[in-house]
Amino acid sequence: MSLLEVKNLTLRFGGLTAVDDVSFTVDNNSITGLIGQNGAGKTTVFNLLTYVYQPNSGQVFLDGQEMKGKKPHQAVAQGLTRTFQNIRLFRNMPVIDNVKVGCLRQGKYSVPSGVFRLPSFWREEKETHKKAMELLEVFELESYADHYAGSLPYGQQRKLEICRALATNPRILLLDEPAAGMNPSETEELMSTIDKIRKHFMIAVLLIEHDMKLVMGICEKIVVLNYGRVIAEGSPEEIKNNEEVITAYLGSEV
Ligand SMILES: Nc1ncnc2c1ncn2[C@@H]1O[C@H](COP(=O)(O)OP(=O)(O)O)[C@@H](O)[C@H]1O
Ligand SMILES: [Mg+2]
Repeated sequence: MSLLEVKNLTLRFGGLTAVDDVSFTVDNNSITGLIGQNGAGKTTVFNLLTYVYQPNSGQVFLDGQEMKGKKPHQAVAQGLTRTFQNIRLFRNMPVIDNVKVGCLRQGKYSVPSGVFRLPSFWREEKETHKKAMELLEVFELESYADHYAGSLPYGQQRKLEICRALATNPRILLLDEPAAGMNPSETEELMSTIDKIRKHFMIAVLLIEHDMKLVMGICEKIVVLNYGRVIAEGSPEEIKNNEEVITAYLGSEV
């Protein structure tokens, strides 16, 4: 059974069908790419998966359980965490605190223990700090722990976002154009980071990305959207050689 199964998902905005009868699956511990031109409906698929929108029809299953009727913050509790097309960090907070925010979503200490700073609060705080530092180390960001997030170079900020998303212990990580605005060497580094975290944390990744080198290099499977519809699903090799994909999207790029 697939970890995530999207079945005949449709969402209309007035007269526009942004997501049109979309079906695909994401396997456990795999990296799946979601590609297509601007406006193809990729981000809208993420918004549907995280309850930002309710579909007009169709279903989503996580581990065989139907996902429906929840609010966006509840997606995280279910194991789906996303990053956004535009960086959304707390720029005026230290790097380490940006990661702790992700950890704290699962905080176990009670409100009184936090207000009165009881021993259980400090225990939890210490554990959270340790976990956040460990995550920063995986991303080689530990030396920036006390720097303001907004002061980091762009590529490091994008890594920090992924780091914070991982702090929520997702089963599936949704990355919306993580390499956007990166230079080739930052993109290269990001590619190996994504592959590394998939193995390290044993999670699945669903990746929206325009950089074909990145997508073809790390995805086991690619789903191609065109005007809201899936026009192909297959291995990088199959997608590269698919006539319809070449005409609609790839052109002479690969
Ligand atoms: N909230 C919205 N209201 C109306 N139209 C929207 C909304 N969000 C997205 N769209 C439209 O849906 C289509 C798909 O958008 P999007 O999912 O952002 O594409 P992509 O991420 O593939 O570039 C586009 O035509 C976009 O203009
Ligand atoms: Mg988008």
